[in-house]
Amino acid sequence: MIRYSLLSLIVSSSLLFAGSLSGEQAGQKGSAVSASLLEKLSGELKGYMQRSGPIGALNFCSQNALNLTDQVGKESNVTVKRVSLKNRNPINVANAEEEIILRRWAELQHSGQPLPSYEIKQRNEEYMYYKPIVINSEACLKCHGNIASESPLFKEIKKMYPEDKAMGYVMGDLRGMIVVTLPK
Ligand code: HEC
Repeated sequence: MIRYSLLSLIVSSSLLFAGSLSGEQAGQKGSAVSASLLEKLSGELKGYMQRSGPIGALNFCSQNALNLTDQVGKESNVTVKRVSLKNRNPINVANAEEEIILRRWAELQHSGQPLPSYEIKQRNEEYMYYKPIVINSEACLKCHGNIASESPLFKEIKKMYPEDKAMGYVMGDLRGMIVVTLPK
């Protein structure tokens, strides 16, 4: 009886160990998932911009960006999203906790300090991974910069997203963040 419970203790603790993720591993996994998402999104975006111009690419984003994001998460058994304080898609609005982080990062930027590559928070059952998304290419400004209000692109954006807040950015601005939820 004693031997049995000892054995089960060893088995269950080793199972626990096998399933548990360290903070460092969570950082690595979060970074890998983020890199994969950014690579997929920017690859598709580039292709659509070349083939069918900003309006074609806009249609691609509005129809596929969310699915693609979910799919990248599923492939790694995590959940992924992109959120922003000035969001275009209403679904991508930052929640209260995310807002605090984004505001802190925006202040860092204002005071001329570098943004962290990512941050990790530990919860009971999971790690939360947060990575800043910065306007790092002129291509982003096509749809998130100062767009002339009489242009067809502006009208299309306003038609699709009447509540759009995601214009007026300049190079280097903090655009939002990737949030990855990693089960322990
Ligand atoms: C062709 C137009 C277009 C270009 C170019 C573009 N975006 Fe977007 N972006 C969109 C649309 C449309 C959405 C809303 C759909 C979605 O992704 O859920 C969006 C959403 C986002 C979001 C999610 C938060 C939100 O506001 O909904 C982020 C972050 C983002 N874009 C960053 C970027 C960055 C960084 C670049 C440059 C690498 C870029 N975008 C280039 C059209 C574009």
